[in-house]
Amino acid sequence: MMELLTEAKDAFSRSNVDKKHPFRYFTLVTFGEAYPEARTVVSRGVDKALQILVFTDARSLKVAQIQKNNQVSALFYHPKQKLQVRVQGEAHLIDENHQEYATYLHQVRSSPSLLDYTTSQAPGSVLENDAGDITHGEHLHFLAIQVIPHQLDVLKLDRVQHQRARYAQSGKGWIEQRLVP
Ligand SMILES: Cc1cc2nc3c(=O)[nH]c(=O)nc-3n(C[C@H](O)[C@H](O)[C@H](O)COP(=O)(O)O)c2cc1C
Repeated sequence: MMELLTEAKDAFSRSNVDKKHPFRYFTLVTFGEAYPEARTVVSRGVDKALQILVFTDARSLKVAQIQKNNQVSALFYHPKQKLQVRVQGEAHLIDENHQEYATYLHQVRSSPSLLDYTTSQAPGSVLENDAGDITHGEHLHFLAIQVIPHQLDVLKLDRVQHQRARYAQSGKGWIEQRLVP
């Protein structure tokens, strides 16, 4: 009985090809100094092992938070299917020392979001410019984050019967535990 995992995997693989799929955007949660820190990010791809790829600015707070503690949560929700997937795992920062970086950099260079990574001031810093204009520099502060899942909690609301299961990553695959929804 792995149908909840199958449903989650289906949703992830659809989100890879369908730009309007609700799993395209998700909430990434990191450990902050005083609070858990949640923010919306774009999924740049989820592979068969359910590793999730995110692009970000290397100067953003989330990056510093991950450097301190790489345990993260990711939250996905599909409103029509009433499907919630909670992922707990570890985040890895993929910088220019990684082989894959060149591929991701190429993707970003050929996309309109390039400007997201060239602001003169770091994301989240107080604007120095009174007019509120955002200025850009030469440097590309681009970084990829890969989330490697350890555990999933999948919940499917259904008129007849809600279903929930936890999946823990073992060396060989996912171990399922059905849960009370
Ligand atoms: C629709 C939407 C998509 C976003 N996608 C990303 C993204 O892919 N990567 C990213 O770093 N920030 C993205 N953001 C901005 C983040 O929510 C957040 O404001 C920013 O990354 C700074 O977060 P931090 O200071 O916690 O690092 C997105 C915001 C919205 C509203």
